Amino acid sequence: MSEKVLIGVIGGSGLYHLDNLTFVKHVNPETPWGYPSAPITIASLPSGTLIAFLSRHGVGHSITPSHVPARANIAALKSLGVLAILAFSAVGSLREDIPPGTFVLPSQIIDRTKGIRPSTFFDGSVVAHAAFGDPFSLKLTAFLEERVRGVLGERVQGGKTIVCMEGPQFSTRAESLMYRMWGGDLINMSVLPEAKLAREAEISYALIATATDYDSWRPHEGAVTTAEVFKTLKGNADDARLVCEKVLEELHLAVSSAGEGATAEIVSEEAGSMKF
Ligand code: ADE
Repeated sequence: MSEKVLIGVIGGSGLYHLDNLTFVKHVNPETPWGYPSAPITIASLPSGTLIAFLSRHGVGHSITPSHVPARANIAALKSLGVLAILAFSAVGSLREDIPPGTFVLPSQIIDRTKGIRPSTFFDGSVVAHAAFGDPFSLKLTAFLEERVRGVLGERVQGGKTIVCMEGPQFSTRAESLMYRMWGGDLINMSVLPEAKLAREAEISYALIATATDYDSWRPHEGAVTTAEVFKTLKGNADDARLVCEKVLEELHLAVSSAGEGATAEIVSEEAGSMKF
């Protein structure tokens, strides 16, 4: 059994475990930014390959998006040796052609968080600026989009823009319409600062946004409610587990060969030597 844990999976609302994989152990690394949202589950794939799973909102969904300890989460995964993160998040759809149940790998982010979330590792004596024009790993996203489409078919889309809002309340109808005018396709409360911190930590990061609702922009429909979000959450979580079961082995192989400078290059954009 390979002891290296190269792949981290972060689960969002509804995705609190990967119990279709074989449980190995829990680890709870303390980082300079505290403990992660929950103990990290180390699970094994049928080949013996190990992966790390972290529930973003904690055990029993006890942590609001504004209070997710994102720095500890990313630092904890980095300390395990993770080179690539596949993050899941429940999202609202701002487009008619992205119905609930669609899985989207976005390519851009609009930041509508309110500046209250610590969003850099470099706020001490070291100043650093990380490129963030392409906030998701282009290579990892392209690799995953193809494989996830192989699992879920035409329900998978790519190349969309996600708006990240503070919450915890959902948007007003006016805001929802404004985000559409800005070019937003999806909306959530969790992709930031996670994606920024992964970039600073030189970990390749891709998001699978799982649509649960149409937010509040449709004039003749009710505005989004928690009940509506919950309706699709379970089915999406089952599909996310299936995706993990089907794609993580190949992803691990691609990442490990990229790490050795071979052909796949999944991590070559961001891989580096920052240590926590
Ligand atoms: N997560 C799921 N649906 C959402 C919505 N409509 N707005 C923000 N975050 C969400």
